[in-house]
Amino acid sequence: MAYKILAINGSYRRGGVIDQAVETACAAARAAGAETTSVILTERYIEFCLNCRACMQAPGEKRGDCVHNDGMGALLDQADAADALILAAPVNFFNVTAVTRRFMERLGPCACWPWGAKAPALRRRPHKKAVIITSSAMPSLLGRLATGAIRALKLAAESLGAKPAGTLFIGLSSMEKKPRLAERDVRLAAKLGLRLAKGARR
Ligand SMILES: Cc1cc2nc3c(=O)[nH]c(=O)nc-3n(C[C@H](O)[C@H](O)[C@H](O)COP(=O)(O)O)c2cc1C
Repeated sequence: MAYKILAINGSYRRGGVIDQAVETACAAARAAGAETTSVILTERYIEFCLNCRACMQAPGEKRGDCVHNDGMGALLDQADAADALILAAPVNFFNVTAVTRRFMERLGPCACWPWGAKAPALRRRPHKKAVIITSSAMPSLLGRLATGAIRALKLAAESLGAKPAGTLFIGLSSMEKKPRLAERDVRLAAKLGLRLAKGARR
């Protein structure tokens, strides 16, 4: 059976740098025999978390049940079924986009946090790999230091049971109306896609 990679993309722009980087990583993974699926978060119906914590009360490894009946359950099923993940979102106001944040806040079912407990605990240890991709107008080094995007995406990966296996931070992404991914970033995105696909043979 083919090794499955699911990409979750929190960019608002089709054809922007995040789209290009995700597609480059997926194409490299496909060339190595993996099967890839991309989910665009703006195209999914996902409600805001209600902070009711109903999904976090029951103990155990099994994902909790959310009170919402929207597209999030199916997306979590897709993430569970995947062998590896790509989590991608650009930086807006020094962190990931709001649509990505809304998705992240709905990852409660992956953790257990009963009333009386001080903090949540993830239900499952990391058992798959994830690649993290983000982009910003500022140079990548500054972006890595000054924004919370990588940290947020890593947290999302860990909640989904994935250990980060590499990050791509695309800097200076807003110099043109229709930016093209720089050659260096194309190479890095392809390398990361390949790294995920190779996980299949370990
Ligand atoms: C509302 C808004 C807020 C932004 N905030 C930041 C920011 O805080 N820091 C930064 O470096 N770039 C910022 N940017 C630039 C985006 O990061 C950049 O356009 C994005 O990386 C491009 O990704 P895309 O091509 O996938 O849309 C912002 C852009 C917009 C539209």
